[in-house]
Amino acid sequence: MVKIGQIALGDFPLLLAPMEDVSDPPFRAVCKDGGADLMYTEFISSEGLIRDAAKSRQKLDIFEYERPIGIQLFGGDIGNMVESAKIASEVNPDLIDINYGCPVKAVACRGAGAALLQDIPKMVKMTEEIVKCTSLPVTVKTRLGWDDKTKNIVEVAERLQDIGIQALTVHGRTRVQMYKGEADWSLIAQIKENPRMRIPIFGNGDIDSPEKALEYKNRYGVDGMMIGRAAIGYPWIFNEIKHFFKHGEKLAPPEMADRVKATRKHLEFSIRWKGPKLGIFEMRRHYANYFKGIADFKPFRMQLVEAPTEADVLAVMDQIIEHYSVPV
Ligand SMILES: Cc1cc2nc3c(=O)[nH]c(=O)nc-3n(C[C@H](O)[C@H](O)[C@H](O)COP(=O)(O)O)c2cc1C
Repeated sequence: MVKIGQIALGDFPLLLAPMEDVSDPPFRAVCKDGGADLMYTEFISSEGLIRDAAKSRQKLDIFEYERPIGIQLFGGDIGNMVESAKIASEVNPDLIDINYGCPVKAVACRGAGAALLQDIPKMVKMTEEIVKCTSLPVTVKTRLGWDDKTKNIVEVAERLQDIGIQALTVHGRTRVQMYKGEADWSLIAQIKENPRMRIPIFGNGDIDSPEKALEYKNRYGVDGMMIGRAAIGYPWIFNEIKHFFKHGEKLAPPEMADRVKATRKHLEFSIRWKGPKLGIFEMRRHYANYFKGIADFKPFRMQLVEAPTEADVLAVMDQIIEHYSVPV
């Protein structure tokens, strides 16, 4: 049984990755249905939270049915990170996660996210102060290192464990790699091979099928996996992987009825959480993903993204059901 503090996560948990502008409550609701064992908010700016910026505050919204859920924070200033961890703890998530992996310039060039990979003493100090300021378990998500010459994650993992983090997720790329090339999990396996390590180590990067998940589970010996892009428009991936692990055969892909059901739920939760205008607007970038690979779908997709009201979107979904003869 994998545990983060007192949180029991099953034998081989599958985590939903924090993803900016994606991992919001509506998306998390469908991923929870799809079998995600632990989910995170998208990263939240420590400075934004302290300023009480409405956008950052809204990202703290978490719901009972989402548990266990972690709030992810990023920032370059230790004092601000501590202050924001206190604010985040007040909304009572199951854990606080620190982002030391974000490679984008706006974050890393301001000394936050993956920038901390260039200053390990500061990373360790920041983590230590956050662990001290909250009673919640603190976890870290990071990358292999800054660049090819500084892939120091094996040593960093041990230092972070020593100052009290309770789980570590490693994306198998360096900052310099951004999202290019193939994620390399061999150093993640080395963290696990260190006999001093006792906290759960989760691998991340490029898991996009049950076969790959099984291959990586066996080859790299991690305690669980985090999945990001493959869950976008395909929340079934979690249960598909679990089924494959258990039975050695693949679940049938989702029927059109399942796709419509998940899309409707995502839309409904978007409207509830963001209001009708923004909820309908932001949902538009998800339709193509939910119906990827469906023959002759383009005209319906066009109608979905142009539909101005919830009733109009639902009417298009009714047409989809009729066209593809989905049993209702
Ligand atoms: C659109 C997008 C937004 C992301 N935002 C975050 C974020 O807020 N925090 C974070 O730690 N990682 C973020 N990531 C990185 C993912 O969590 C994950 O590490 C990465 O996508 C690799 O996993 P995958 O191959 O399963 O997608 C983001 C990735 C994407 C594609």
